[in-house]
Amino acid sequence: MSQTFDVIVIGGGPGGYIAAIRAAQLGFKVACIDEWKNAAGGPAPGGTCTNVGCIPSKALLQSSEHFEHATHHFAEHGISTGTVKMDVAKMVARKDAVVKQNNDGILYLFKKNKVSFFHGRGSFARAFEGGYEIAVAGDKPDTLVAKQVIVATGSNARALPGVAFDEVNVLSNDGALRLGAVPKKLAVIGSGVIGLEMGSVWRRLGAEVTVLEGLPTFLGAVDEQIAKEAKKAFDKQGLKIELGVKVGEIKTGKKGVSIAYTDAKGDGKALEADKLIVSIGRVPNTIGLNAEAVGLKLDDRGAIVVDDECKTNLPGVWAVGDVVRGPMLAHKAEEEGVAVAERIAGQHGHVNFNTIPWVIYTSPEIAWVGRTEQQLKADGVAYKAGTFPFLANGRARALGDTTGMVKFLADAKTDEILGVHIVGPMASELIAEAVVAMEFKASAEDIARICHAHPSLSEATKEAALAVDKRTLNF
Ligand code: FAD
Ligand code: NAI
Repeated sequence: MSQTFDVIVIGGGPGGYIAAIRAAQLGFKVACIDEWKNAAGGPAPGGTCTNVGCIPSKALLQSSEHFEHATHHFAEHGISTGTVKMDVAKMVARKDAVVKQNNDGILYLFKKNKVSFFHGRGSFARAFEGGYEIAVAGDKPDTLVAKQVIVATGSNARALPGVAFDEVNVLSNDGALRLGAVPKKLAVIGSGVIGLEMGSVWRRLGAEVTVLEGLPTFLGAVDEQIAKEAKKAFDKQGLKIELGVKVGEIKTGKKGVSIAYTDAKGDGKALEADKLIVSIGRVPNTIGLNAEAVGLKLDDRGAIVVDDECKTNLPGVWAVGDVVRGPMLAHKAEEEGVAVAERIAGQHGHVNFNTIPWVIYTSPEIAWVGRTEQQLKADGVAYKAGTFPFLANGRARALGDTTGMVKFLADAKTDEILGVHIVGPMASELIAEAVVAMEFKASAEDIARICHAHPSLSEATKEAALAVDKRTLNF
């Protein structure tokens, strides 16, 4: 016998579980199906983000940063530590415990909000007048029926053609987050977000890290001035980044991995490494969804085709998060999930794509919202720029971390903030003020006139806003 719901959500990552909770808050009878298994085979909702993405990567970034502080920076504070050792197994176990807290937290939230959770794979069985039948294949096979279905099946790591992830030598984000020991030599292909974050973790712990990037520019989506500043910092740390390479044959053996490549000058080279992380982007995941059974339309990248409101080509079927167009970010997936639940309830859910923040959790952190200087130039927009270096910020000096700057870009005529770009300490937290400002269509002058606590890193934000009008007070 099938069970009937108002809304069925397939996928329990940030897009899916948040959509399920919001739909339940709005009074719907909701089911959420997720197939992720923990090591014991039990449910582990939270998707890529919780299990092998945002949360575990930030746990390892934190542990490795503590290690780097202990080995390189404590001495300048007068703290002597003797020999500092890293227990990788303990670090990874801590990360696993953080992941489990998040998995359990989501199961608790489902109970609290009366969302029925099904552990297994959900697939379209058939469409019928008045709804869809969804089969659940798992420990307890089931059939669910609903009028409204939200697909939030996420994404998977993209492999290099002919080089499958074995998670022993050739690692995706999954293997990169559970290495048992620090590799002596680590190669990374792709200097995007994962390459830089995971490269940073293992470099801080002692690996010699070489990142091979296909494009000739470093972090092309980031404001050029900010990317240049970040590159300088990574070079100083010893993170080797080679741009404009063409990766050739990759061989794996008992001793590790050998990567043949052509460098930017066209010279043939070989890189020997103990482990290789391939981080060249992610592909939308619809494996096992049986989209064909109901005629759900995919594009040529395999993403589910949706309109601005996350509606698919089928009535009552919606899709959100990594499986659709747009940036592959947890907070973008969440916002879409909330908006869809509200639209199903007849409300006017809305996602502002112009104010979605990006953060790269390296040290220094890189964060931005809105348009870059190169985008404004390309769009022919007249703008004013203002920057303020952390070197001139008292709190940054006290922290001992004065790398980087805050940069404001504002409309030349109206002074409306068009983009804010930060490279430096706690950029991930500082960017929130800029997001709020842009959401409220603030001008640079608005931020410049707001009282910011002293001493705080946020004063650099205020000063960068003042710099737009060439009137910084501390620089
Ligand atoms: P997912 O999180 O991928 O969840 C999809 C879920 O659906 C999974 O649990 C999957 O098992 C399940 N599923 C799939 N098919 C089915 C099916 N047929 N039946 C049942 N269940 C199914 N983003 C940030 O914003 N900040 C970060 O710091 C960040 N760090 C990251 C670090 C790494 C290493 C990686 C890989 C990604 C990171 N991301 C980060 C990106 C973020 O993880 C994704 O954007 C986000 O998880 C997308 O959410 P989602 O709900 O669309 O999909
Ligand atoms: P990415 O898109 O950020 O970077 C991939 C990089 O690989 C690019 O610079 C690209 O030019 C390069 N590349 C592609 N093919 C290549 C090839 N054959 N040889 C050499 N270089 C090649 O993808 P990444 O790092 O895999 O991350 C995937 C996504 O996950 C991110 O785009 C982001 O959406 C999300 N993510 C977000 C994080 C955050 O918000 N802090 C952290 C990690 C991931």
